[in-house]
Amino acid sequence: MPGMKNMRKEDAALEIERLHKELDRHNYLYYVLAKPVISDYEFDRMLEKLIELEQEFPDLRTSDSPTQRVGGWITKEFPSVTHRERMLSLSNTYSIEEVGDYYKRVLKLLPQGSQSGNGPAFVAELKFDGVAVSLLYRDGKLVRGATRGDGVQGDDITPNIRTLRSVPLRLRGISGETLFSGGYDAEIEVRGEVFMRKEDFTALNGSRPEDEQFANPRNATAGTLKLQDSAEVARRKLFFVAYYLKSAPFDDLPHHERLKELEYLGFYTGGHYRLCYDIEDIYGFIRDWHEQRWKLPYEIDGVVLKLDDVSLWAELGATSKSPRWAIAYKYPAQRARTVLVSVVFQVGRLGTITPVAELEPVKLAGTTVSRSTLHNLDEIERLDVRLNDTVEIEKAGEIIPKVISIVKEERPENAAIITVPEVCPSCGTPLERPPDEVNVYCPNEETCPAQVKARLEHFASRNAMDINGMGKAVIDQLVNSKQVYDAGDLYTLALENLLTLDRQGEKSAANLLQAIDDSRKRGFDRVLFALGIRHVGLATARELASAYGSLDTLRKASAEQIAEVPDIGPVIAESVHLFFKKPSAARMIEKLRTAGLCFTAAKPAAEGGHVFDGMSVIFTGGLERHTREKAADLVHERGGKVVSSVSKNTDLVVAGARPGSKLEKALKLGIKVISEVEFEEMVGKSVGSG
Ligand code: IVH
Repeated sequence: MPGMKNMRKEDAALEIERLHKELDRHNYLYYVLAKPVISDYEFDRMLEKLIELEQEFPDLRTSDSPTQRVGGWITKEFPSVTHRERMLSLSNTYSIEEVGDYYKRVLKLLPQGSQSGNGPAFVAELKFDGVAVSLLYRDGKLVRGATRGDGVQGDDITPNIRTLRSVPLRLRGISGETLFSGGYDAEIEVRGEVFMRKEDFTALNGSRPEDEQFANPRNATAGTLKLQDSAEVARRKLFFVAYYLKSAPFDDLPHHERLKELEYLGFYTGGHYRLCYDIEDIYGFIRDWHEQRWKLPYEIDGVVLKLDDVSLWAELGATSKSPRWAIAYKYPAQRARTVLVSVVFQVGRLGTITPVAELEPVKLAGTTVSRSTLHNLDEIERLDVRLNDTVEIEKAGEIIPKVISIVKEERPENAAIITVPEVCPSCGTPLERPPDEVNVYCPNEETCPAQVKARLEHFASRNAMDINGMGKAVIDQLVNSKQVYDAGDLYTLALENLLTLDRQGEKSAANLLQAIDDSRKRGFDRVLFALGIRHVGLATARELASAYGSLDTLRKASAEQIAEVPDIGPVIAESVHLFFKKPSAARMIEKLRTAGLCFTAAKPAAEGGHVFDGMSVIFTGGLERHTREKAADLVHERGGKVVSSVSKNTDLVVAGARPGSKLEKALKLGIKVISEVEFEEMVGKSVGSG
């Protein structure tokens, strides 16, 4: 950055505060008001500038700086914390009549004269389907984020919560412009729901091995918040929506005004709440969202009603689990009945056979469904499902519909037994069922057209090489016409080849060719994921890429060596090792190499810097100056690899804050241990000076 080097400290302090404020403001515009005024690129540039300045003046870096969202990583279990006030749940009802009864009950319980107009006013809100968390702010700064746990004690997941850009690290109004009317308490508690948007959920699942996919966004959220790697949490793009504020300065405000205050403080509330003055208003809100909810970018599973007059909350009290001043109405499960027309057996990219039900089209959860998964061959037997049966389907996470049961009473005369294939529907090879597995496989890995096509689809998919236009239809034709056998062949396609395909004009063929060409730029981790190795999702590919630094080093590694990489277990390690031993993989890899795909992580080794040549390095404890990924990059750029478990093969241990048992083990084994500062010196010295 010109002009930034050798800045005077006073000027740097001013510039840091300016950038900090600007970044906070843009975050607010983006997350709370949903009206961004700059691009993500511009935001990132500004953030980079701040990072650079803070690196030059480390003592000007504060814990609430926007650069401090992704810290190191947590090595230990999450500490247990006690909530300031019990975190209650809500009593649920699926019946609209019960909502009416509840309303009347509250009316009776309340002291005379406390209601305005027709009855007590309620705030109707959306019921977000995620994970409840409590945030604690002291002097306007986020000091703690915790899960509900058993309501009394939860897990302190602050490092993960800090990565959510919709969670302000410092409250607005404390950064100079006081926006809310009251003063502020030394301690402010905000509760709300962490959730994943549908689109991010789909992308996340797309980046995971088939057998590790999350059933719905809520499970994905819960799984993500439990991760001990906050950099991965950051990547998964969770959101926080605030629905509860309890702290001294806001005690006198009715609930709907507290929601407004939350927005002033910098929180996202979703904005879809309504102050209802009578039961008809409430019914109206429930009705409106019944259909509208499918248009939301996230999932809701109902509506929450909260008595607006907070001064009456104590009077109504609570049961052991839930307060009496609120109730949740849950929309009925998204199920529908329809007729099973036929079953097709799909062959996945790893040869797995999946029965797919073809259905009479039926409306479900905002879309028309005509196909649904039956999971595996055992499921057909378990459900005792026949052709022409009436089946009940459900949308798991409102994304993938599945058949959950059959309606036996409605079984027609012509119900026919489903014949399960014994040979692959694509290539005719006898199917195999490994012992102890529910899945049946086509063992013809190399030439089964269905597997070849599915592998290519995976290769071209968004999280992998992201080749726009290389969809199912194109791949089908390329394989059928024997122009493509594996992903390597995509890079030798010429315009003439593409013009032979149906519905490919000059323009679309040229675009596709360009998209193939552009994909050469994808990073090594994406390439590794695109190869389609069993059990290797994008996160695992990243770990491998970062630990080994190049495809050729990884190929030479034994399964035991691969298993030393953080988060890589023996099953994955074995799978990776086996993949590289296959002659077909070797052939494809050579074609991809010729095509110029990226086979090494990040930049080439820093000039003159091979300080870690051939070394196995371990990080333990929290790093303060680098993220886990950055530190790993620094190691492999300089010839080393990063492993997770200490053994006699370990060469160096870098101990950060609160190092764990690895440090003890390393000391016992007499392995060299250095501090983060010493690590930086090693890295620094190696740059340029050699
Ligand atoms: S209020 C004491 N409001 O639903 C009342 N909860 O089934 C605290 N939830 O534990 C909760 N949206 O995790 C409230 N607008 C909303 C909500 C909401 C989702 C969740 C929350 C709660 C669960 C109860």
